[in-house]
Amino acid sequence: MTGTTPTSRVTGLPTPWLRDHMHEALAIYGLAMGYDAAVVAGRYGYAIQHIDRPGFRAVGAFAESSDGEQLVGFGYGYVVAPGQWWHDQVRAALDRRTAKQWLPDAFEVCELHVHPDQQSRGLGRRLLHALVADLPNPVALLSTPDADTKAFRLYHADGFVDLARGYHFPGDARPFAILGATLPLAPRSR
Ligand SMILES: CC(C)(COP(=O)(O)OP(=O)(O)OC[C@H]1O[C@@H](n2cnc3c(N)ncnc32)[C@H](O)[C@@H]1OP(=O)(O)O)[C@@H](O)C(=O)NCCC(=O)NCCS
Repeated sequence: MTGTTPTSRVTGLPTPWLRDHMHEALAIYGLAMGYDAAVVAGRYGYAIQHIDRPGFRAVGAFAESSDGEQLVGFGYGYVVAPGQWWHDQVRAALDRRTAKQWLPDAFEVCELHVHPDQQSRGLGRRLLHALVADLPNPVALLSTPDADTKAFRLYHADGFVDLARGYHFPGDARPFAILGATLPLAPRSR
């Protein structure tokens, strides 16, 4: 990532492009989340399947470098539905009333990551807002490690509220927060 300039653009990613560049996107996911190669490789099959889910939408951030334009951040999501692992986990995590209010026709922000060398320059916020802009869905939902992270700060600053805290997804020792925002998100820029 050396040689990048502050020039960057955020744009929608056509699904065929993302299918062809998913390894590139997941490399950013691994670096941003601090996951090792095995975790990243294990994510590939799930991510490729997500592309075919209803309401799938993806956005990318590109920066100029000495090698040309490079993907430096991405986000994607889709509409949740019963039977999906994440949907069913979240339904179990929420009380019935909250689940009934927030889950129907919700758009899940499934991934949102910026390369560590490009973080804290406004790209994550631009990606988040581009991802949910003009969606027909009433709300956006997501889960994020329940800690004082850049992600948590971004989501809280931009309209997401706590639906559950300290939730443990199977197979992950970390507590997670489940957050939701009514759409449209209030415009925000920096
Ligand atoms: C979370 C993430 C996508 C945010 O993208 P980013 O480009 O770094 O963030 P931005 O520069 O757009 O800043 C947006 C907000 O994030 C928070 N933030 C960003 N950098 C921060 C820092 N160094 N310290 C504290 N908060 C920070 C702030 O709330 C900031 O808003 P503000 O500038 O008005 O205070 C990015 O940091 C990332 O990829 N993190 C690791 C992966 C991750 O946690 N992904 C989300 C999984 S749910």
